[in-house]
Amino acid sequence: MPVWCPATVVEKKVWTDGLFTLKVKSSEVLPFEPGQFLHLAVEEDEKIINRPYSVASPHGETLEFFIVVVPEGELTPRLWRLEQGDEVKVSQKGAGGFTLAKTPDAEILWLMSTGTGLAPYIAMLKTQAPWERYKKIIVVHGVRQVRDFGYAHELRALEQQQPGRFVYVQAATRESQPGVLSGRLNQCLADGSLERAAGSELRPENSAVMLCGNPDMLNSMEELLGERGLKQHRSKTPGQIVTERYW
Ligand SMILES: Cc1cc2nc3c(=O)[nH]c(=O)nc-3n(C[C@H](O)[C@H](O)[C@H](O)COP(=O)(O)OP(=O)(O)OC[C@H]3O[C@@H](n4cnc5c(N)ncnc54)[C@H](O)[C@@H]3O)c2cc1C
Ligand SMILES: NC(=O)c1ccc[n+]([C@@H]2O[C@H](COP(=O)([O-])OP(=O)(O)OC[C@H]3O[C@@H](n4cnc5c(N)ncnc54)[C@H](OP(=O)(O)O)[C@@H]3O)[C@@H](O)[C@H]2O)c1
Repeated sequence: MPVWCPATVVEKKVWTDGLFTLKVKSSEVLPFEPGQFLHLAVEEDEKIINRPYSVASPHGETLEFFIVVVPEGELTPRLWRLEQGDEVKVSQKGAGGFTLAKTPDAEILWLMSTGTGLAPYIAMLKTQAPWERYKKIIVVHGVRQVRDFGYAHELRALEQQQPGRFVYVQAATRESQPGVLSGRLNQCLADGSLERAAGSELRPENSAVMLCGNPDMLNSMEELLGERGLKQHRSKTPGQIVTERYW
């Protein structure tokens, strides 16, 4: 059982119905690495209901979480009802190895995600580490509908600040819009549209790839990347791919 720290909701930003960012303040959380997760919890009838969430901000007093409501889920409908000033609990220690320290060096860093799997990248991009290590960084975000592109404004602003060094690629599966790729990320990689939009080729010699979110997306991407010669990166058997499965 984690050690629980008291936390207060300081902001709730709703991107679209059921998709939101919760900012909570807690002074007791120990330093963690961008990409790690904490547990968020609510207490009800003396029972603590908790789940892991990637932190969408680097370590600090205010912690950001990018969350989607799973309608039949136990915790997320409760988190969705929280408002500014409400109390929650957050685990004291960050956990997980989905970090840049566990990601290999390369010319290009691909940060690929579906849904709220974007969260760890938002934290990483706010630190110096990725900018010091990679010549080019490409964020790829796959969602159902265009309204689900949380953090789009921030990522577009980063493209302006880092011209040529940072590219933000959007893909939607259930709606089409100019400038947004159509289809699942594996389809976009297979048909060449993803690399065209990114302006780079994804090859084992030039790329490190982080994958986060829907486990089925991770499976289909790992299979496709495997056909191109990329494999999981482990300390004893170096490769190119680092993954975080959300369920
Ligand atoms: C390391 C890690 C980091 C995570 N970070 C985030 C995050 O930053 N943001 C976030 O929204 N979620 C994140 N999750 C998922 C989160 O922990 C919960 O599983 C999710 O919020 C559902 O909780 P629940 O209690 O509402 O549903 P539950 O009652 O736990 O589960 C209902 C079922 O919904 C499915 N499910 C779980 N998550 C999703 C999802 N996002 N989309 C569709 N189906 C899902 C699973 O099959 C699960 O069995 C993360 C999970 C892990 C393991
Ligand atoms: N606005 C919202 O996002 C929102 C709001 C309220 C509630 N919810 C609920 O939140 C839950 C999660 O929804 P979500 O949209 O965030 O996440 P999701 O279901 O994981 O979908 C995100 C993206 O991943 C794609 N995907 C699914 N399987 C894949 C695979 N095998 N390979 C590659 N890509 C794949 C989806 O494509 P497909 O479209 O082809 O599946 C979609 O584009 C659902 O229960 C949903 O009902 C979502």
